[in-house]
Amino acid sequence: MTGSTILAALRGEIDQTTVPGHCAVHGEFVIRQFLGSDGSVVGELARCAQCAEDARVADEKSRQAEDRRKRFADADVPLRFRACTFSSFDPARAGDQAPMAATVCDEVRSYARGLPGHLKTGRSIALIGSTGTAKTHLAVAALKLAILQGLTARYATVGDMIATIRGTWDRDGDLTEAQARALFQTPDLLVLDEIGAEQKGSDHELGLLAGIIDHRYRNLRPTIFVSNVGLPELRKYLGERVLSRLMDNGGRVLTFRWQDHRANGARR
Ligand SMILES: Nc1ncnc2c1ncn2[C@@H]1O[C@H](COP(=O)(O)OP(=O)(O)O)[C@@H](O)[C@H]1O
Ligand SMILES: [Mg+2]
Ligand SMILES: [Zn+2]
Repeated sequence: MTGSTILAALRGEIDQTTVPGHCAVHGEFVIRQFLGSDGSVVGELARCAQCAEDARVADEKSRQAEDRRKRFADADVPLRFRACTFSSFDPARAGDQAPMAATVCDEVRSYARGLPGHLKTGRSIALIGSTGTAKTHLAVAALKLAILQGLTARYATVGDMIATIRGTWDRDGDLTEAQARALFQTPDLLVLDEIGAEQKGSDHELGLLAGIIDHRYRNLRPTIFVSNVGLPELRKYLGERVLSRLMDNGGRVLTFRWQDHRANGARR
């Protein structure tokens, strides 16, 4: 039935009648029939209204799921960490430091829950501590919570980020340098991992890094900094200015001061 027939019917230009309908799921409903000048049925609205509404809701849900899936794919989380969540973090693996691990996990989670609000302040955090303490695990869990809350996000190691930007200089890549920078500057949340992993970046690399961090800072976009160097080295690596910006707006440094006992056990 055409839209114009329905409009004409609604304006009262076409006679209508109703007949009882039956939906296998929702039971009785009313079918509206539109009648031609000779009284014959020229069209009808024979769909159960509840079925129509259910279909609309299901469509909307699958559209949202597809949107989440796309934002997660764009976040570029390495396969190894894609399954990391807050609930798969086990504080007991920190042995007698389990209470501290549980507290740190709670703090990262509550930071992540607050991310929509942090977009108004640019509030960032740093996760520092030795290797194998689940810093990347919890940073990815936070990123996933950001995605669930409708935000855009990106995961990158400092090394990959710099390589991506540098890669636009010397070969005919498909990205311009500005586009490459935008990959790290525009997402609502950036997880910047393995900061300071190579002893000391070149001045040029540090300049690139500072430029990205600065851009995010100016645009109130939160960043999760992840590093396995201590705070003094991190301060040296990032520079005092970047670190003081991190501490702005209630930004915090969370120290992962324990060892993964499962990993230790496995190594022995
Ligand atoms: N307490 C924990 N609970 C669950 N998984 C953990 C825990 N500690 C470490 N892991 C796992 O061990 C591996 C190493 O952790 P990772 O997050 O890479 O550590 P880091 O980034 O601190 O070096 C990851 O696969 C992570 O999921
Ligand atoms: Mg890591
Ligand atoms: Zn129905």
